[in-house]
Amino acid sequence: MSIIEQAKQAAQGVAQTVVQKAVELAPERWLPGGKPDPLIHQKHGLIGKPVSRIDGPLKVQGKAPFAAEFPMEGLTYAAVAFSTVPKGRIASLDTSEAEAAPGVVLVMTYRNAPRMKAMPVFMSEAKAAGGDNLPVMQDDRIHWNGQPVALVLAETQEQADHAKTLIRLTYEAEPATTSFAEAKAQGTHPGLFMGSPMKQEIGDAEAALAAAPVKVDVTYTTPRHSHNPIEPHAATIVWQGDDLVVHDASQAVTHTAWSLGNVFGIEEAQVHVTSPYVGGGFGSKTLWQHQVLGAAAAKLAGRPVRIALSREGVYRMIGGRTLTEQRLAIGATKDGRFEAIIHTGTAPMTHHNAMPEPFILATKSAYAARNFKLDVEVTYLDMLANTFMRAPGESVGTFALESAVDEIAVALGMDPVELRAVNEPEKDPTDNKPFSSRNIVEAYRTGAERFGWSKRNPVPGSVRDGEWQVGMGVATSTYPYHRMPGGAAKLTLTRDGRMQVEIAAHEMGMGTSTAQTQVTAERFGLELDQVSFAYGDSFLPGQVLAGGSQQTASIGASVVAAQHALVAELLKLAGNDSPLAGLRADEVGGFAGGLAKLDDTGRHETYTSILSRAQRDEVSVVGSAPPPLETMHWSMHSWGAMFCEVRVNSVTGEVRVSRFLGSFDCGRILNAKTAASQFRGGIIMGLGMALMEETQFDERSGRVMNPSLAEYHVPVHLDVPEIEVMWTDIADPHAPMGARGIGEIGITGVGAAVANAIYNATGKRIRDLPITLDKLM
Ligand code: MOS
Repeated sequence: MSIIEQAKQAAQGVAQTVVQKAVELAPERWLPGGKPDPLIHQKHGLIGKPVSRIDGPLKVQGKAPFAAEFPMEGLTYAAVAFSTVPKGRIASLDTSEAEAAPGVVLVMTYRNAPRMKAMPVFMSEAKAAGGDNLPVMQDDRIHWNGQPVALVLAETQEQADHAKTLIRLTYEAEPATTSFAEAKAQGTHPGLFMGSPMKQEIGDAEAALAAAPVKVDVTYTTPRHSHNPIEPHAATIVWQGDDLVVHDASQAVTHTAWSLGNVFGIEEAQVHVTSPYVGGGFGSKTLWQHQVLGAAAAKLAGRPVRIALSREGVYRMIGGRTLTEQRLAIGATKDGRFEAIIHTGTAPMTHHNAMPEPFILATKSAYAARNFKLDVEVTYLDMLANTFMRAPGESVGTFALESAVDEIAVALGMDPVELRAVNEPEKDPTDNKPFSSRNIVEAYRTGAERFGWSKRNPVPGSVRDGEWQVGMGVATSTYPYHRMPGGAAKLTLTRDGRMQVEIAAHEMGMGTSTAQTQVTAERFGLELDQVSFAYGDSFLPGQVLAGGSQQTASIGASVVAAQHALVAELLKLAGNDSPLAGLRADEVGGFAGGLAKLDDTGRHETYTSILSRAQRDEVSVVGSAPPPLETMHWSMHSWGAMFCEVRVNSVTGEVRVSRFLGSFDCGRILNAKTAASQFRGGIIMGLGMALMEETQFDERSGRVMNPSLAEYHVPVHLDVPEIEVMWTDIADPHAPMGARGIGEIGITGVGAAVANAIYNATGKRIRDLPITLDKLM
């Protein structure tokens, strides 16, 4: 680590301590407990309704423009050539044939690319969005196998793709570290996730483990995963003078605008990023080299550029989830109480990103135990920077943790649902904070009842249906509640009683625009069609990442703040002739197309009446969300119980998941339909992780060998059984709307639920993902 990095970390540590103190002393006004969001208690109306997506009709009619669909005068099309060595330099470069090919506008390489700064790495600063901090086509150096080495611009995509094949390049390769074993031999280093060390010890876990009468101590491994959103990464880019316009596929428009400003040495306000529709993100749709290269080429050509990555391009240029090797040990008393939990291990990453797959995170809050040893170490490889992928840490971490809990249940001869209840903690076991809301036992109880868990035969390999062995497994799913700083919202109320909400937020297919329209309508006492929600534009207020399952909370807190300002403004306008005269903003809420006194809704005036009397056409306010102090007072997490039934063919080893049920405790569910889709989508992604997904990485050359959906397998319809989802719907009093995140929890716990079901079916314990049939033969 460099001295600067050390100093930065030390400063961060000091800042964290200061913030911690401030929070401990802070009055509980905003905080939770102080005054819960009134919507939490709203039991009828729009909250929770299964409203269909408001953007659905536009999408099915082809009227929703995605990033690669913005029409532009004089558009050029980009194709990217990738390096074929993992490390070294470009020895020779001949672009003349490509330049002479039909339709080619230019070929950009390190020789003629404009001078640019490196991207600020995602999470290194508030608005940093870059996947890595390497120079982007600035020199002849190669840092990974697949790095962009040339970009062709042509009049059509086909011409660009063809010309790319005519570029002649040779390399002077240098020794590279591309094998995990070799990297480990070179030494492991402490993992740092978002400035926090991934190491924690409470008591003496090794001694407690050694002394425990019942124990498991095993190693689990998970492979690399590549991002495969249905819409590959793309951007349509144009310079207007010194101003840059990027129609992107993004889950971080504000971050991307700021970061591109840094790269090109212009102001954030000179970069306009829009992203109205996105075909999935999962952590991958931040800023990667393609947007930078596209903007650079547009500058060089003086023409707009469309850069739409091929599926292979996504595998070569967009980081995925790194592999992990995890030790999981649990020591228990004979009656099943956990004495020690050890979760340590190693994940490779690169020197130029900031993502040490934090697989211990779920373990920190899962079970009561007096002794913990948690540690993520990293090794460095010469490879594409790895990054965030749906439930980074928890998805693969819960595979290890929840498999090990199943293993110790077997050793104890206990039912795994019962064992989890026995080890239910009263407060967060590693940071001692109270839980804001945790009803996981309830989720297990209702899930078990609906799934028919009591019919499970606990003896492995005892249920057969012809040549199929049948088994059931269970696992806990969990993901933290986050709310990142920087949320803000603009509200504009017009005299006709319509509300416009504007936030630099994102709709990647989750249902955000629908759920937030519902919430806003409910808050203001309006009908759904009286509210419009503008998002996906860096010029709108707020800095709202669609990541960390926190967008809903961030938007919610922003709208609450803006509502407060708007109500105050409206009360002023209402004046003394209103039934609302003399009321304070906090005594008033939205009701039946206007404002009413919260505990006496007879004192009511419509928005139209208030604005008409004040002779105003509209009133507009911007509100900023307060800092997320709630997470410093409470241990806040979404919870779930995953139930899986599998059929394993005793002749071929083929695994079919025949039934799956997710029972969730995520606070209030805002839209039953879009939430169910989020949960199911997460579970399907988890089934892929359990049974199929694996990036084949050639450890000799560092090259991804299966960069296509033909060879990188994800679940298709026939792989996915009926998935039932249900939820407690118990409001979290400490979260806006009472709702915790639901975007990522669905993938967590699935790997273990499947592996545990396979064990129950066959007696074979597979500790290495994906569980392909060769491992069961
Ligand atoms: Mo997610 S991995 O926070 O998009």
